[in-house]
Amino acid sequence: MKFDVLTLFPEMINQACSHSIIARGIESGVIEINAVNPRDFTKDKHKKVDDTPFGGGAGMVLMCQPYFDCFDSIEKDNNTEVIILSPQGQTFNQKMSCKLAEKKHIIMICGHYEGFDERIKLYTKAKEVSIGDYVLTGGELPALCMIDSISRNIDGFLGKIDSAHYDSFADGLLEYPQYTKPREYYGLSVPEVLVGGNHLEIAKWRRKQQMLVTLKKRPDLFEKFQKKCENKEDLKLLNEVIKEFQI
Ligand code: ADE
Repeated sequence: MKFDVLTLFPEMINQACSHSIIARGIESGVIEINAVNPRDFTKDKHKKVDDTPFGGGAGMVLMCQPYFDCFDSIEKDNNTEVIILSPQGQTFNQKMSCKLAEKKHIIMICGHYEGFDERIKLYTKAKEVSIGDYVLTGGELPALCMIDSISRNIDGFLGKIDSAHYDSFADGLLEYPQYTKPREYYGLSVPEVLVGGNHLEIAKWRRKQQMLVTLKKRPDLFEKFQKKCENKEDLKLLNEVIKEFQI
């Protein structure tokens, strides 16, 4: 997967992608991240990328020319997805992340401080995406969140042990609680079932915990899961969970 990120602050992208699992993904060639700066495409001697808004008003607006030319410099094919980061966009979630992970090429357009000339969205045919209902100073952090999440969902990016298959949200439930050595610490002990060696019981306990954790922390997700659950084993555990909670 290739990510091209249009940003006035390429170092924000390059720095953040030079650590941990993302850096490993780049090294192994599963992902490629290329930050390009629209400022390098200005035709103005002062390298101006923004101007005052037509009709007046506070702030500056990112101009068409540097963004159009920067966008045009990137090679695309019919599998390329173009995303513009904006608090007005469709909210990013795990489902969108998995769908985007099937693409071969994603172009992300970041703003900073200010708004875009509306024609940038039209020209690039970009899909507007937000990472949540709050406003950040720019699109770089949202782009990084998306790159991180999408990369985890690309086949071959994570090893078996970290498999995204077991992630929170992967099948509509949150993750079960995890424990490591020692068995007891400050009077707090590890649930007995996890040290008993019965793999079937462990799997059942974990699945039930997923349901309990989701019910407690995200009742909205639990309700959705409950509505679409058809698996016999899951339905049995679901009944136990509901009985325990008397709902
Ligand atoms: N730019 C500023 N705030 C944003 C948000 N919440 N999501 C995506 N891009 C943004």
